[in-house]
Amino acid sequence: GNGIRVYDPGFMNTAAIKSRITYIDGDAGELRHRGYPIEQLAERSTYLETAYLLIYGHLPDASQSKIWEYEVMHHTFLSEDLTSLLRSMRYDSHPMSIFITAFSSLSAYHPEANPSLAGQNLYTTSPELLNKQVIRALGKSSTIAALSLRIRMNRPAIAPRADLTYTENLLYMMDALSPADPYRPDPRLAKALDTLFILHADHEMNCSTAAMVHVGSSRVDPYSAIAAAASALYGPLHGGANEAVIRMLQRIGSVDRVPAFLEGVKKKKELLFGFGHRVYRNTDPRSTIIRKVAEEVFSILGRDPDGLIEIAQALRDAALKDPYFVERKLYPNVDYWSGLIYKTMGFPLDFFPVLFAVPRVSGWLAHWKQNLEEGTGKIWRPRQVYVGEGRRDYVELGERE
Ligand code: SDX
Repeated sequence: GNGIRVYDPGFMNTAAIKSRITYIDGDAGELRHRGYPIEQLAERSTYLETAYLLIYGHLPDASQSKIWEYEVMHHTFLSEDLTSLLRSMRYDSHPMSIFITAFSSLSAYHPEANPSLAGQNLYTTSPELLNKQVIRALGKSSTIAALSLRIRMNRPAIAPRADLTYTENLLYMMDALSPADPYRPDPRLAKALDTLFILHADHEMNCSTAAMVHVGSSRVDPYSAIAAAASALYGPLHGGANEAVIRMLQRIGSVDRVPAFLEGVKKKKELLFGFGHRVYRNTDPRSTIIRKVAEEVFSILGRDPDGLIEIAQALRDAALKDPYFVERKLYPNVDYWSGLIYKTMGFPLDFFPVLFAVPRVSGWLAHWKQNLEEGTGKIWRPRQVYVGEGRRDYVELGERE
């Protein structure tokens, strides 16, 4: 690189963290990965190719692309001991807790083909081992996601297939098959999911990516750092928002109750989930693209789950016209429409954050790898401004009033 240090360890005190991966212009509503506009990637790339771009910094050429897809699709199997560990969790566990458990235990199950490392911290700077960890995390995240759903449904796991695309395989392992073909999911839905995965892959220094780099800076293995990042994503203010949006729409219940709901939001009784963003002060470019994907999926599947699409459209239109939201620059974000797509595809609500986590693994890995390779190598240790009590002496129990 040009010697510019990234991820200054004292980042809480410095203006911002430097990175080469993702550029966001919050006012213009612009998002670019390694320079490529998100609109072009969503239109012309695939999730696996975008993951490669994020992690290695350039679009793969034909042979790199072939090797990359082969490697990731051939590292989708989970070891039986990991599968039985996850199966031992309560069947009604939240799929995100299963996802987090899986990654926190992957560091124990993957001596990275070097038995002598078994059980040790798998931090490594050797490029081939680091790349193996990246490929394994990407391959296994889809199988872990599918297994978390199968456990939730009390059904047996379906083994991954390397001859399918990344999202075809994910749908296949979730038994989301096309009625026309019992051996393959609907390619149009797989493509829609692939586009959603491109849109969820990375988003600069969001809460979960900051957790990934923060935890990774202590030189723990990437699987444990992913468990920390996934835990951050779990929250309803972050990746949990796509589930919270649906629950909010269900609570509203009908179009004519939208105005009353918005009055409640203005009285701060609750949040308008799927709206607002820490960076975008204009619409989130991803939500514009997702809205188009939503319309395609709704027309393919031809069903509006409990009329929620109609309520979502009415709620969005009302909020965009309401001064309270306009003056606070609150617009739909990436989570406003994605939950409706997943619900129309028939997935259970609590599985939605997992469908955010799977593609975000590529962004987490990209920032983690960048910090390992180009960072200062120091641990992240933010400082704080102390505003508590001044120095005072200890008081014995009997003398305290
Ligand atoms: C993601 O960081 C990322 O990039 C995240 C993400 C990614 O790709 O990684 O983009 C993914 O997490 C998208 C966000 C998903 N979360 C939600 O949809 C939850 C609802 N959104 C809010 O919680 C909120 O908008 C946040 C958390 C997303 C952003 O918080 P901010 O920017 O700190 O908001 P703020 O508190 O500065 O808001 C300013 C005002 C406040 O009102 P006042 O105190 O000035 O009167 O707007 C209000 C807030 O109360 N406000 C909302 C609101 N969001 C902000 N009021 C109602 N509903 C909302 N959603």
